[in-house]
Amino acid sequence: MRVPSKSLPDGFDKADHPLYRVALSVWRGFVFVNPQQATAGSAETSFDPASGDLANWPLETLVSGHVLRKVMNCNWKIFWENFNECLHCPGVHKDLSRLVPIYGRGLMSRHDDPDWVRHADNDAPEFSGGLRAGAETWSRDGHAHGPVLPGLTPAERAAGQTYATSLPSMFIVGHVDYVRTVRLMPLGPEQTELTAEWLFAPEALAETDIDNVVAFGTQVLEEDAAICEINQKGLRSMRHQAGVLMPEEYDLHRFHNWVRERHAALEATA
Ligand SMILES: [Fe+2]
Repeated sequence: MRVPSKSLPDGFDKADHPLYRVALSVWRGFVFVNPQQATAGSAETSFDPASGDLANWPLETLVSGHVLRKVMNCNWKIFWENFNECLHCPGVHKDLSRLVPIYGRGLMSRHDDPDWVRHADNDAPEFSGGLRAGAETWSRDGHAHGPVLPGLTPAERAAGQTYATSLPSMFIVGHVDYVRTVRLMPLGPEQTELTAEWLFAPEALAETDIDNVVAFGTQVLEEDAAICEINQKGLRSMRHQAGVLMPEEYDLHRFHNWVRERHAALEATA
């Protein structure tokens, strides 16, 4: 920004006042921007190694089919807390819990069940974590949109969803026929902008209506946003001090530690 001053102070040089520099990293067709000029790492190393690997998804060649933008009245950390557990799934995501039966049990994966050994040889989706029998992808009727993306392994096709997480700003979900990205931008202490984008192979976009796919993902995100806003309201209670994590919330515990580490690092450099 500049002012229409008629004279410049002695020694003022516009070159000393450029636009702020940012760090930029390109990863598989995505451009990551970090407002900190000097930052370690890259977009690639920002992904949680414990999350899924999207190496077999052709991210670079996909094109945008739909964008959803939504301002949620919650802190960005509340959204991530919700993202990191599925205890809320049976009550909040009725349709998703039918599509991914293990979610309907409030679990994210087989080993979250204290009794998993009893079902260790049972590959039914309520124990193994895949999609319900006959479903191919996250869509209203469970059917894929167009052809399945080439290059996916049988395990990746059977999984139904593969999450890659880049805290604090993005996660990507690979499905057999499309990819969904969700980006988060804090607007204030109790406001976060969510941008979801559905990416398809160009030939699949030309085929048919994508509403079967988009409507389902939108519903799940709307359900999460609504419960996050309720959660934010609850945190305003004068009596509230702290909650207690349940064993199934181990990823939420990891997230808390991630936040703590970043706070400690910031304080060390302040
Ligand atoms: Fe959720």
